[in-house]
Amino acid sequence: MHIEKYERWFMYATAVVILGAVVGLVISVVGHHAALPEPAGRVQPADIDTTAPFDQPGYHDTGDGTGELVLVAQAWQWTPQQVTIPAGTEVTIKAVSRDVIHGIRIPETNANVMVIPGQVSEIDVNFDEAGQYTLVCHEYCGIGHQTMFMTIDVE
Ligand code: CUA
Repeated sequence: MHIEKYERWFMYATAVVILGAVVGLVISVVGHHAALPEPAGRVQPADIDTTAPFDQPGYHDTGDGTGELVLVAQAWQWTPQQVTIPAGTEVTIKAVSRDVIHGIRIPETNANVMVIPGQVSEIDVNFDEAGQYTLVCHEYCGIGHQTMFMTIDVE
C-alpha cells in the first residue's frame, strides 16, 4: 500500500506522541505512585447521624500534632461552619454528604477532593502557617453552590 510521504511523517509523529503519553503514565504510576482515589469507607446518608465520627462533626485533637476534621456536607452548607486548629497540625479531613455530590477545595493547600453520597472522602492537610483558610465546595451542587463554604482558623 502506498502512503504519501507527509502522511507517513504524521503517522510517525502520532506514534511518538502516544508513546510519550504511555511512558508518562507508567512513570507516574510506578515512579510517583499516582493512583485513582478510593473511598476511605462507606456511610449511607441516612446513617450519618448515628455513625462515628460523623455523629460528632468538628475538629478533634488526636494527639502528637495530629487532628481530625469531620465534616458533613449538605446543600448548601458544611457542618460545622467554623473550626479552630492549632498551627503545625497534620489534619485528616473526613467528609460525607447527605444529599448530592459536593467537593472540598482549600486554596493554598493540597486539599482537593470530591464528596460523594454514600462514600467517606479522606484527605490529609498540613496547616503549617497560621491564618484564616476558607474551605469551599468546588462541585456544582445546585442554586446555592457559591454560598457553600466554611472557615478554618489556624492559630
Ligand atoms: Cu456543595 Cu457546591
